[in-house]
Amino acid sequence: MRAQAERARCAPTPTSVSATLVYMPTEHQPVLAPELTALLAPQPGQTAVDCTFGAGGHARRIAAAIGPSGTLVCIDRDPAAEARFDRFAAAAPGRARFVGADYAAGLRTLRDEGIRPDMIYMDLGMSSMQVDAWERGFSYSYDAPLDMRMDTRQELSAADLVNEWPESGIAQALRRFGEERYASGIAREIVRRRPLQTTSDLVAAVKAGVPASARFGGGHPAKRTFQAIRIAVNGELDSLDDALPTAWGMLPVGGRFAAISFHSLEDRRVKRFLAERARGCICPPDLPVCACGREPEAELLTRRAAAPDAEEVAANPRSRSAHLRAAVKIAANAGGEA
Ligand SMILES: C[S@@+](CC[C@H](N)C(=O)[O-])C[C@H]1O[C@@H](n2cnc3c(N)ncnc32)[C@H](O)[C@@H]1O
Repeated sequence: MRAQAERARCAPTPTSVSATLVYMPTEHQPVLAPELTALLAPQPGQTAVDCTFGAGGHARRIAAAIGPSGTLVCIDRDPAAEARFDRFAAAAPGRARFVGADYAAGLRTLRDEGIRPDMIYMDLGMSSMQVDAWERGFSYSYDAPLDMRMDTRQELSAADLVNEWPESGIAQALRRFGEERYASGIAREIVRRRPLQTTSDLVAAVKAGVPASARFGGGHPAKRTFQAIRIAVNGELDSLDDALPTAWGMLPVGGRFAAISFHSLEDRRVKRFLAERARGCICPPDLPVCACGREPEAELLTRRAAAPDAEEVAANPRSRSAHLRAAVKIAANAGGEA
């Protein structure tokens, strides 16, 4: 599901698919931008944290709304995002600062500096620019080294994972992060074919590891494997699990949080996290009176996730699987998260 979403959002545009591939980089179009801005309700002079700067599409809107007296802190772990940020900051109306880090670590740094933002938001997954840079190996459609690192300073790459992890660990990752039903067969083939050097080597291992019937129909047979390996290489779910309580803990009462996700593994986490904070009493239903005294900390701004309308999907097919959830903090943290 994730890979499908990503192919839809981020697939590079080959202008020739013969012997030499020539790419026409697609500009990253921010998804659900008016909806995100409306839910965050930015006001002049406020402070905002954008956890996933990318190409700054969402940041541009928020910066305009908080204006010259506002402060926008942008986080991204891809060093390529920093160069884009420099151009963004030069034109931003207010103060803008970049933190080049995983957002979980970046948020902790900001928290430790005592920053209490009025809003924090995340637009999860990869940018178009990352997938368009075919040499980074995110796409199964093009032959490239097995890299898949969002942070190119990170040591672990997809090549390390497929060539060094035990078969059981690879199978587990394919199951957990790709919901791949043929995980064992694919992991076996990966290990048998070592060393794998390119995305084509990995595609070939997947094709050999799935039954013939699974090679046709239902999308590319390698999409789940690529999704799973990318999530594992970048520790994407761990980062999200780590960042959510930190982000929430940093918000003052009245502060707003929003996240856009593109597959169910992430959306489920955001949904549960916010629902838990929006819940009051947690006493067993058979207790006649509340004994826990727990009050909700959050009011959900999206009872059901907001999704792009047909017009946005038509204009930007990459938005197709987006889910936007948001909440406002209505009481101080009960869990002492910050
Ligand atoms: C979907 S793009 C964001 C696009 C952006 N909202 C825009 O409008 O241009 C996701 C960005 O988040 C970054 N990213 C993903 N996971 C991250 C993490 N755990 N920590 C920091 N940055 C992350 C990626 O490097 C990528 O640049």
